[in-house]
Amino acid sequence: MAIQVTRQLAPSFGAQLDGVQISSNSDDSIIDAVRSLWGEHKLLLFRGQQVSEQDLVDFSRRFGELEIHVRTEYLSPKHPEILYVSNIKDGDKSIGILADTEVGWHYDQIYLARPAVGSLLCAVQLPDEGGNTYFADMAAAYDALDSEIKQKLDGRRATQSYEAFNRAYSVPTNDAQKKRSPDIDHPIIRTHPVTGVKALYLCPGMTTRIVGLDEAESRDLLDFLFEWTVRPEFVYVHRWQPGDCLMWDNACTMHRRDPFDQRFTRLMKRTTILPPPELATPF
Ligand SMILES: [Fe+2]
Repeated sequence: MAIQVTRQLAPSFGAQLDGVQISSNSDDSIIDAVRSLWGEHKLLLFRGQQVSEQDLVDFSRRFGELEIHVRTEYLSPKHPEILYVSNIKDGDKSIGILADTEVGWHYDQIYLARPAVGSLLCAVQLPDEGGNTYFADMAAAYDALDSEIKQKLDGRRATQSYEAFNRAYSVPTNDAQKKRSPDIDHPIIRTHPVTGVKALYLCPGMTTRIVGLDEAESRDLLDFLFEWTVRPEFVYVHRWQPGDCLMWDNACTMHRRDPFDQRFTRLMKRTTILPPPELATPF
């Protein structure tokens, strides 16, 4: 079956694709088509997937080198390229990150020097309700800004903090992990390393400060931008179904998750796709 876009997910971005099975031996023609649709739509939904961990790793790797997540305690025991997002426990030990609470708006790994350009997240076990994932189109949000604000942001950088995110939504990192993820500054307006699209590269969950502005001015501008970027016209809410996988462009969309009742179990498996080394540093 040929690849087809069967549904636009939101006015400015997101597409459901039919005709793709995430697998270890997808044809080059499928991969090329997915790559191009991924750039065009920023968020792709694949439904009805049956994906082994090997499939997930092999398929993801066709789009770039894979990141081994800094939270090594939550990696798949057999495939360290896969991060478990889950509230399931093995005895006292959580097998995955982020449990059942709300997860605030963030870009995956914006706090690294070479942040990921993509993530592929597959549902394995889902709660009966809750745990929806929201995406914001940060390129559309940038485009719609007044030119005066665009000018104000032009050339500016902001500080990204994994520690701030963990304080609000997760558990602390250990000392070795802290060393791997210190606060870092990136451009606020990011040019996509592959498509060239410009997007707001900041997020309420991890962006703490605009560099070079005094504290109050930084706070005011960030508050304005955080509210602006999550206006309904820029946001898509995904209600997961069994067999769903979502692949997002992590250079121009951010996401958040609703909490869910702890009596349910939820297990999601994620790979994280890096940009080419020569385009590693956000610009
Ligand atoms: Fe995330």
